[in-house]
Amino acid sequence: MSSISRSAARDDAPRKTSGTVPYLADLPIDGALHAALLLSTRPHARLLAVELPELPHGYTRIDSRDVPGRNAVAMINESWPLFPEDRVCHVGQPILLVTGPDRAVLADVIDAARVEYEDLQPVMGIDDADTFVDYDLRGAPGPPAAAGPAADAASLTETFETGLQEHVYLEPQAMAAWVEDGRIVVCGSMQCPYYVKHAVEIILGLAPDRVRVVQSTTGGAFGGKEEYPSFLAGLVAVAAWKTGAPVRLVLDRSVDMRMSTKRHPSRITLASRLTSGRRLLGSSIDVRTDAGAFEGLSAVVLQRAMFAASGVYRIPEVLVRGRAHRTNVVPSGAFRGFGSPQAFFAIEMHMCHLARADGEDPADFKRRHLLRQGDRTVTGGILRDPVVVEEMLDDVLERSGYREKRRRNERGKGVGLSIFSHGCGFTGSGERDIIKARARVRLLPEGTVEILCSNVEMGQGAETTLRKIVADTLEIGLDRVTFAAADTDRVPDSGPTVASRTVMVVGGLLERAARRLAEARGTGALPGEPVTNGPVEIEEVYRQPPGIEWDQETFTGDAYAAFSWGVNVVEVEVDLLTFEIRPLSVWAAYDVGIPIDERIVTGQVHGGIVQGIGYATGEVLEVKDGALRQATLTDYTIPGPLDVPHIDVRFFENPYGEGPFGAKGAGEIPFTGAAPAVADAVECALGVTINTIPITPEYLERVCR
Ligand code: MOS
Repeated sequence: MSSISRSAARDDAPRKTSGTVPYLADLPIDGALHAALLLSTRPHARLLAVELPELPHGYTRIDSRDVPGRNAVAMINESWPLFPEDRVCHVGQPILLVTGPDRAVLADVIDAARVEYEDLQPVMGIDDADTFVDYDLRGAPGPPAAAGPAADAASLTETFETGLQEHVYLEPQAMAAWVEDGRIVVCGSMQCPYYVKHAVEIILGLAPDRVRVVQSTTGGAFGGKEEYPSFLAGLVAVAAWKTGAPVRLVLDRSVDMRMSTKRHPSRITLASRLTSGRRLLGSSIDVRTDAGAFEGLSAVVLQRAMFAASGVYRIPEVLVRGRAHRTNVVPSGAFRGFGSPQAFFAIEMHMCHLARADGEDPADFKRRHLLRQGDRTVTGGILRDPVVVEEMLDDVLERSGYREKRRRNERGKGVGLSIFSHGCGFTGSGERDIIKARARVRLLPEGTVEILCSNVEMGQGAETTLRKIVADTLEIGLDRVTFAAADTDRVPDSGPTVASRTVMVVGGLLERAARRLAEARGTGALPGEPVTNGPVEIEEVYRQPPGIEWDQETFTGDAYAAFSWGVNVVEVEVDLLTFEIRPLSVWAAYDVGIPIDERIVTGQVHGGIVQGIGYATGEVLEVKDGALRQATLTDYTIPGPLDVPHIDVRFFENPYGEGPFGAKGAGEIPFTGAAPAVADAVECALGVTINTIPITPEYLERVCR
């Protein structure tokens, strides 16, 4: 194990585990008004009238007429309305906001509100839906299939479906805003302070220097606080601007579940041809997602799904079509994995089914098709760095006793395998052309070093990880490196805390900045010696690693500068009467470059696997007449402590030359492999074919018949 991987104590842990750290709901904000939302009860309707009872003194209605700038939330484009003007597009869409001092009064006002709707035809499901985006990707020609004649010897066409998923961050969405010296200050639970800042500037029509955004302690996010807080920030910012008072909006769990973004449901069809030597010749892949009512990040989520659609395999000819559809359902958006889990569920199950059609074990069939160093990815990028996935596969098969367990073929018990990767950082040239990250280190007179970046701690361990990178670069104790809270008045824009980029990209900037700091002061200046001549600050700006090329028009080149890799084997037991699935054990291997902190990355792995098991099994989220049928945590059930299987993790060190201390991304990849491995294990346990998740008992009973 590399010395940097040795686990350090997390600074934030004692306050969080003891419940003493204040979240936004706990912060004393002098004179803050509460806010309550009136939500649409119709999936698609014209708003003919929206009437509130007469408001008591101190209560204010806020709607689209109060927006001083543009009534739109800036994400990739500005098509997401802040407030509806004449039309609602999904159940749960906020129509207006009421602010006031007493929550009970606000609840009464919302209850007494009268909305006159003229219902319009809603679009439910992707079959009848328009598209927000419709892409084609002609995969770069891969190596020709080695064995057998070019003529098709066998083919298989299958369709896979995945469902909605809720993030269930422990802390619901929460945002506050107030006016200070003619500026707006926004404070809340978020992953991306500068996304929020940009959105608020447009909504209020203010110059950048008049908007300040501060992240409050964030109790989990999983992508759910990537773009969505920009929307909430817009709501409270308009309210604070109009009333002149501080306004705080803390969503109840059920309101949060009804309004906020989800994981995109998908329908993916794969049609593949094999040579007579049973090698993959070509695949035509159709990726369709249900984006819901507003586009948000759906285009980029879809792109990631398309670039992952052929998995970790060499397929000489790949065609991918991708469509994100507009429906009258709560919008989907960023969620750990960002399109990739849907794609990997489909390709991994498809590979299993292709293998089994000829009686071959999926592990062998997958192994014969693995991408190797020097191969081209589906977008034509070359895998320049060593690929150790074959060693990882052998290790996981060995540790799990996969072959023996497959042979045993015990009814109701099974093992399943998944192999997967995750592109680290923004897709394509996003880091260079859009994000342009900058981060700083600052040497303070007392001899400590402060990290200044806009990336946030949200429970994942970013703060400790980034501090370790700086401390180890400077060869000083971890206690001498501090992490500035993300406040756009103080920290530069190092980009959003998303896309498995924080450690690899921002950590890389901080490592370089720390190295320059050490050079500037001479090695002796740091440990011990107080610095007398004022603080020294060093900034680093993102540089694209050499040799990386990307064409966003044709989707060709290096979709990602680096990939992390994973292999999972899951053993499950299926109750033959109730069809309940119980995951017993998981054996996992990951190549995340070098783990910067073994315990933190292990935590990411445990959480990701368990969240992925929930995605595959119990997390059912259905839409009926446009409304979610499971809009509370009583109905929507995530895995609890008793559902956590034994998890055995091993990290394969494969240092990435451009990453700090060799690190790549680790936040998202642990989620990706769990669902296909669970589904494959269920197939093995019952001898059935699975093409849909979540695998509910009802679904399983049906396929068993
Ligand atoms: Mo994200 S799903 O926070 O890149």
